[in-house]
Amino acid sequence: MLLYLIESAVPLLTFLLVWTLILALKKNIGKHKKIAIIYAVSTCVSIILVAVLVRVGFVIGENAPKWIMDIHLVFIYGILPLLLGLVVTAFKGKRFLHIGLAVTYLVFWCGSLVTGAMIFMMHHNWI
Ligand code: HEM
Repeated sequence: MLLYLIESAVPLLTFLLVWTLILALKKNIGKHKKIAIIYAVSTCVSIILVAVLVRVGFVIGENAPKWIMDIHLVFIYGILPLLLGLVVTAFKGKRFLHIGLAVTYLVFWCGSLVTGAMIFMMHHNWI
């Protein structure tokens, strides 16, 4: 139940990500920075909390096959270094590297959302 509570933060995190992306595209860099930092910290805290809870024995989506869980984890664990890269490139003013990482990041975020939704549906035998 606790794990599902943390997972329920995902729509809110996605909203923050879309918001910060729109701000960046509108060149409102000051606000983009603020929202992106709030997003990055909340995302890291959520991922770490879920990882710790899984380590101590909480389970989620246990009826889903292992292969989809493995793909999901590749996306999830890719998120942390990518976020770090986004912060570093932002503060060092490496604009093009930052944009490249942002595109990669969006692919990883979408990958986590799709595989996460698949795990949920497979767990409930919907697919
Ligand atoms: C994680 C914390 C982040 C911080 C502190 C941050 C900060 C910044 C800063 C300072 C710039 C201006 C760079 C420059 O002109 O030299 C920038 C640009 C940009 N950021 Fe971020 N960012 C973050 C995350 C993200 C994320 C998650 C995305 C989208 C997935 C993103 C997308 C962009 C884009 C597209 C630009 C280019 C805007 C333009 O056309 O000038 N950033 N960011």
